[in-house]
Amino acid sequence: MLTYRNTPEVQRWLIRATVDPVVFREKWLTSVDEPYDHSCVALVGDQPVGSGMLEVVDGMGQDDAPESLRVEGMLGYTIDPAHAGRGYATEIARNLLSLAFDELGLRRVTAGCFADNPASRRILEKVGMRLEQYGVRDSWHHELGWIDGCTYAILREEWDARV
Ligand SMILES: CC(C)(COP(=O)(O)OP(=O)(O)OC[C@H]1O[C@@H](n2cnc3c(N)ncnc32)[C@H](O)[C@@H]1OP(=O)(O)O)[C@@H](O)C(=O)NCCC(=O)NCCS
Repeated sequence: MLTYRNTPEVQRWLIRATVDPVVFREKWLTSVDEPYDHSCVALVGDQPVGSGMLEVVDGMGQDDAPESLRVEGMLGYTIDPAHAGRGYATEIARNLLSLAFDELGLRRVTAGCFADNPASRRILEKVGMRLEQYGVRDSWHHELGWIDGCTYAILREEWDARV
């Protein structure tokens, strides 16, 4: 996974652009026992072709009301460029939404991306997420400076109502 994770092509549109190999390994190993980290590796046969992230986080709520704690998910994905364009990221996103709503019982899932990442935006739209916030020059990019960012979201009732 490290061989593709730190390539310029993959780094370009990620928020955590560069990963330290030691930290990367440590994070994957500890995530196994971390109840709020639902990171996953996508395998084709026994070959890793990408990864997904679903982190359970607090929603916005007054006085840290228990109703608002650990009720939301944050979704992300990365695909090895050698395996891009085959629907794998869409499949990861769909499966993690199913995990979030059907198994973990979360009430809302969000995903953020740079506005100039059309493949990622298309994936989020394909899985039924709404463009909830378009931030004008709200996101820092190492090469491009301040550029536009997007937040997509979906509520459990929207997931349940999909056809
Ligand atoms: C972006 C990324 C996740 C896409 O993975 P993937 O497995 O190729 O995605 P999928 O095949 O599931 O779907 C991609 C969709 O975007 C579309 N797409 C790809 N490039 C596009 C472009 N330049 N403009 C418009 N649509 C584009 C594809 O046609 C496809 O839509 P379709 O099924 O309607 O044809 C992958 O390239 C990647 O990991 N990139 C680097 C890291 C990254 O950007 N991660 C997301 C951070 S938010």
